[in-house]
Amino acid sequence: MRVVALVPAAGMGVRLGENKPKAFVHVGGSPMLTRAVQGLIDSGSVDDVVVMVPAELVAETRALLPVSSVPVRVVAGGAERTDSVRAGLAAAPDATLVLVHDAARALTPPALISRVVDELRAGAQAVVPALPVTDTIKSVDATGAVTGTPDRSGLRAIQTPQGFDAELLRAAYAVGTQATDDAGLVEMLGATVHTVLGDALAFKITTPLDLVLANTLAARRDT
Ligand code: CTP
Ligand code: MG
Repeated sequence: MRVVALVPAAGMGVRLGENKPKAFVHVGGSPMLTRAVQGLIDSGSVDDVVVMVPAELVAETRALLPVSSVPVRVVAGGAERTDSVRAGLAAAPDATLVLVHDAARALTPPALISRVVDELRAGAQAVVPALPVTDTIKSVDATGAVTGTPDRSGLRAIQTPQGFDAELLRAAYAVGTQATDDAGLVEMLGATVHTVLGDALAFKITTPLDLVLANTLAARRDT
């Protein structure tokens, strides 16, 4: 079984506000992309990595990537995250299992990556890391008035890497609809998506506050 990790890193990082594509923003002295790829390699669970970056950054990205026995390739991403993942899938025709892992989850522990791959190897077709939600979640209408309070015990916050049987993910992407994550596309095909326990350290660095937290955590980890 060939496990290929696709790393979407072509986003602009508008919410972070650092005036450069987010995957190239440094956390504890290294670009988020470099850290995310190193985590995949350190898991020992991945055979091949494909990173998707803004087209104009493909050449310079190569110098940022860790050198190891795991080959890491760089391809151009697209305008939306789904376009970037589609480009990565096209570059990995030999994959039997695919992980999709946001570069922005730069501090993801390698053990979480291995948990996802182990679940796939045990026969699951789709696997996502999940954490219980700690806030109460409410639905609201267009005016902001609350319309409901779903039972929190049945809700999970979903992280990456998300893992899939490669053929299933290709079929999901062939349909061409939109979803906020890759598993959402697979759910639309009626496939069962399994959860494994996520990890708070796999949080997505999205806002300036997240970056402060990530830098603090990286400084601790690297000493
Ligand atoms: N991503 C991508 N291609 C896009 C958009 C996003 O590869 N066209 C990647 C990002 O680089 C990131 C991951 O998908 O690693 C999750 O996206 P997000 O956190 O939304 O990152 P950005 O799109 O960069 O941030 P923002 O939405 O604030 O601009
Ligand atoms: Mg985005």
